[in-house]
Amino acid sequence: MKASARAHTNIALIKYWGKADADLMLPANSSISMTLDKFYTDTTVEFVDGQTEDSFVLDGQKQDAAATAKVGKILDLVRQMSDLTAGARVSSQNHVPNAAGLASSASAFAALALAASRAAGLNLDAAALSRLARRGSGSASRSIAGGFVIWHRGHDDLSSFAEPLPVADNLDLRMVTVLIDKQQKKVSSRSGMAHMAATSPYFHAWTAACEAACPQMATALAAGDFAQIGALAERNALMMHATNMAANPPFMYFEPTTIATLQYAAELRAQGLPVYATMDAGPNVKLLCQATDADKLAALVSQRIGTQTEICAPGPAAHLLEED
Ligand code: PMV
Repeated sequence: MKASARAHTNIALIKYWGKADADLMLPANSSISMTLDKFYTDTTVEFVDGQTEDSFVLDGQKQDAAATAKVGKILDLVRQMSDLTAGARVSSQNHVPNAAGLASSASAFAALALAASRAAGLNLDAAALSRLARRGSGSASRSIAGGFVIWHRGHDDLSSFAEPLPVADNLDLRMVTVLIDKQQKKVSSRSGMAHMAATSPYFHAWTAACEAACPQMATALAAGDFAQIGALAERNALMMHATNMAANPPFMYFEPTTIATLQYAAELRAQGLPVYATMDAGPNVKLLCQATDADKLAALVSQRIGTQTEICAPGPAAHLLEED
């Protein structure tokens, strides 16, 4: 009745930004991501006979009713699947340093889905785990798998799940995270994407562009075509932010240092260093480069932008941890 799991964060190269179904968490388009080796969440779930309520401790702090209810949504789905009624004790440790400025909901819900289902005695396959994690946070569906991952948009619960993508043997990619702001994001991804989808006239163009970009990205990954991977990822990220700027009222995640970093990436590229940028629902930038250039790039960016950087390689799939 107890299990522990680890799942790593992921960063999308082709983004999920807008839902087709908010309850089932079906996305408006398919997306592709890279799972990161450096950042992960460890979660232990124990179903306790006779306990009626769930409890949730994150990084040693007991969480409030709202945070516990989000976890409870996944626990309820697991209880339904396993005919359990017991409440659960959930304890999570985030190894996504604040300094990285990365969201941890993807790793958190993926680790929760694996730990909770195993604690309940279920033995779900990767697709079923991805569907379960998706219900907590869309991007979590992609953190069940390692390496490079595609989340098929699907049209119902069964068809919307993520799985690994084949990549060329010679593809040795790194993602350099650039910390620009440690603050909690001003507009959460959930409310930002809902507002954009409801009001931006670019929404349909955006989702159509993502649907077209996914097979192109999959082809580029399979061919090990770094320039094409980078160009597709950078354009996709900027398109996502353009849809937000066309929302009513408009909003944006850029800060002056965000723009400076994007411009510096373009400058380095013009000088012959192959680097491309992506960013999510916040001001921090992630730079895609080849492994051989990662140290040099991280040093140059720290020097010019004056911020902390972390070099990430493709990370592993979610997995169970041995009991202490
Ligand atoms: O699933 P959420 O609520 O973490 O939303 C993820 C949204 C982006 O990070 C901006 C894009 C993505 O595909 O991960």
